[in-house]
Amino acid sequence: MSNSHVMNTYGRQPVTFSHGKGVWIWDEAGRKYLDAMAGIAVSGLGHAHPKLTAALTDQLGKLIHTSNLYGVRNQETLADRICALSGMEEVFFCSSGSEANESAIKLARYYAHQNGNNNAAIIVMERAWHGRTLATLSATGNRKAQAGFEPLVQGFVRVPYNDIQSIKQAADVNPNIAAILVEVLQGEGGIHVADIEYVRFLRKICDEKGWLLMLDEVQCGIGRTGKWFGFQHAGIQCDAMTLAKGLGSGVPIGACVAAGKAAHVLKPGTHGSTFGGGPLACRAGIATLAAMEDEGLLANATKMGEVIRNGFREALGGTPGFVEARGMGLMIGVELDRPCGGLVNLALEAGVLINVTADRVIRLLPPLVINEAESRELVARVSAVVKKFLSK
Ligand SMILES: Cc1ncc(COP(=O)(O)O)c(C=O)c1O
Repeated sequence: MSNSHVMNTYGRQPVTFSHGKGVWIWDEAGRKYLDAMAGIAVSGLGHAHPKLTAALTDQLGKLIHTSNLYGVRNQETLADRICALSGMEEVFFCSSGSEANESAIKLARYYAHQNGNNNAAIIVMERAWHGRTLATLSATGNRKAQAGFEPLVQGFVRVPYNDIQSIKQAADVNPNIAAILVEVLQGEGGIHVADIEYVRFLRKICDEKGWLLMLDEVQCGIGRTGKWFGFQHAGIQCDAMTLAKGLGSGVPIGACVAAGKAAHVLKPGTHGSTFGGGPLACRAGIATLAAMEDEGLLANATKMGEVIRNGFREALGGTPGFVEARGMGLMIGVELDRPCGGLVNLALEAGVLINVTADRVIRLLPPLVINEAESRELVARVSAVVKKFLSK
């Protein structure tokens, strides 16, 4: 594979894919792999889903791009749908998760200014991942990703994840806090699920203090955890939520969704995006949500997640080096007691695409269309590779 003119910002596996169908993907040499990554939680419908292909083909023949200087019908339709599913009020569309979080950060600052706070701080978490743009990188809790890009953007207060006491302490010492930005299930950080009472506490303290509760649902949203949005497991509402990844099934789209005191904060001229919410990307979003609903993919994510987690517990339980299988729905982490980045390549050789995050956690994000036989195949292939790796 020659990519000498491509800027070298990724450690790439030695494989290039040519096509896919459902959870399966083929490389240029014709070798077939089980895709347990779905392009990092993007291809929820799997590859080449016929309904998505038909919708996009139809849209391509009509309009790809106009501009946010005009009405965009698909944008309105998709915003209606997202608000109906989430109980929220309005959506700003952009083209990536980072951009969605930038929008939320700007929204929180603008909200603070309107309330007389000109030095707004946002509480963010250790191990959080919010993106690679400067503000979202600054919000991200990963020193390795930040190193060399200082000075970082100011205005973030970092606390340990899932720790009620540290939020109370931050509130006591900093009068300028305007919002909390948090993932209800940390993905890049190693598949850590927040306790339900912690999420409810965040809602409560935000209400008491007048802060915005802003949830980064870029990875855990759009059905991946078995509900449309991760926060719905806690039975709360948030003030702002960010989406991307699974929303467009691979057509770039991001969204910053607002409600209550976060709604109607941003006004004409305060924020924008040339590509955001274009007719093609929004058509992808509309078709994705419709197919997910038609095919019962939320229930499938819940069920297959259980099959896969239990499968790993059965296959690897008692194996020295296996710590646990955890997660929610089809956002799954298998933790080992040692760094295991080398497993990615071994799994590739065994015909399955996986990822390792936080050094020791195998991360699995298969398409939400995965069936039971495929789920069992995933467990069999990955656990065989893990056993071999751990026995060395
Ligand atoms: C929770 C979360 N937020 C934000 C992002 C950044 O999204 P993007 O890469 O689309 O900018 C990611 C990407 O992994 C993510 O997992």
